[in-house]
Amino acid sequence: MCAQGSRLHGKVAIVTGGGSGFGAAIVQRFSKEGAKVILGDVNAENGQSVASQDPENIFFLQMDVTKADHWNAAIELAFDKFGRFDILVNNAGTSHRNKPTLEVTEAEWERVFDINVRGVFHSVQAAIPKWIEQGQGGSMINISSVGAARPRPGLVWYNASKGAVSNVTKGLAAEFGQYNIRVNNVCPLLSGTGLFSMFTGMEDTPENRQKFIGNVPLGRLTDPDDIANMCLYLASDEGSFVTGADMIVDGGKSI
Ligand SMILES: NC(=O)c1ccc[n+]([C@@H]2O[C@H](COP(=O)([O-])OP(=O)(O)OC[C@H]3O[C@@H](n4cnc5c(N)ncnc54)[C@H](O)[C@@H]3O)[C@@H](O)[C@H]2O)c1
Repeated sequence: MCAQGSRLHGKVAIVTGGGSGFGAAIVQRFSKEGAKVILGDVNAENGQSVASQDPENIFFLQMDVTKADHWNAAIELAFDKFGRFDILVNNAGTSHRNKPTLEVTEAEWERVFDINVRGVFHSVQAAIPKWIEQGQGGSMINISSVGAARPRPGLVWYNASKGAVSNVTKGLAAEFGQYNIRVNNVCPLLSGTGLFSMFTGMEDTPENRQKFIGNVPLGRLTDPDDIANMCLYLASDEGSFVTGADMIVDGGKSI
């Protein structure tokens, strides 16, 4: 539980996939720190339930990140409601189930790249021109993965999609730094969110979670608040000289 703060006072954020897991934690952390947050998610029930916890500051928008017009609607909503737009967290993501790579179907491959990579493409097309026009910079945070740099058997195409995200982040940071637009990656380790069974190929049970912490120096999996705290740093003015970075949040697993 975090205390109320003002580290994002006056800022307006869009967080995709905010109805569950990391996204829900990010939305809640941002709103507690004074931001107005547009929570974009395809899942209306979950999105509305998170937004209802702080209706003054969190606004649910049903959106599919693979659709350009949904992105335009999200950014229009930010300007119509609050007159500005400062922070974008590309968190919505998915995976194929962990399995032998030769068994991943083209349809699964396409879904993973559609949501994880096409979604970021549309966000860039929609957000960056608006930030340039607004003239006050912006912070884009892409939720990548430790697997972007350290791929493993069974999640090859998922990790490849996050490799694309991590690479794009650095390219965007280099190209748009001149407008004070910062673009960073947050790279989480496995967590007990909705994607746990896709990533591990196992049911999410305390016993199965235990199987993945053996070689984590800090001895646990990622908590959604770990990711929310890193996003808060990158979104706030405290992160104002950080761009193009991979912020690894993995309890030391990648050492
Ligand atoms: N959980 C992990 O172990 C882990 C590890 C590394 C990276 N990640 C990344 O973190 C991000 C969040 O994952 P999570 O673990 O919280 O998963 P989750 O399944 O709990 O949440 C994902 C959310 O994204 C939404 N979503 C899916 N497709 C969408 C679309 N097309 N448009 C809009 N919203 C959509 C879902 O409805 C859901 O609310 C993902 O990008 C994932 O790849 C997760």
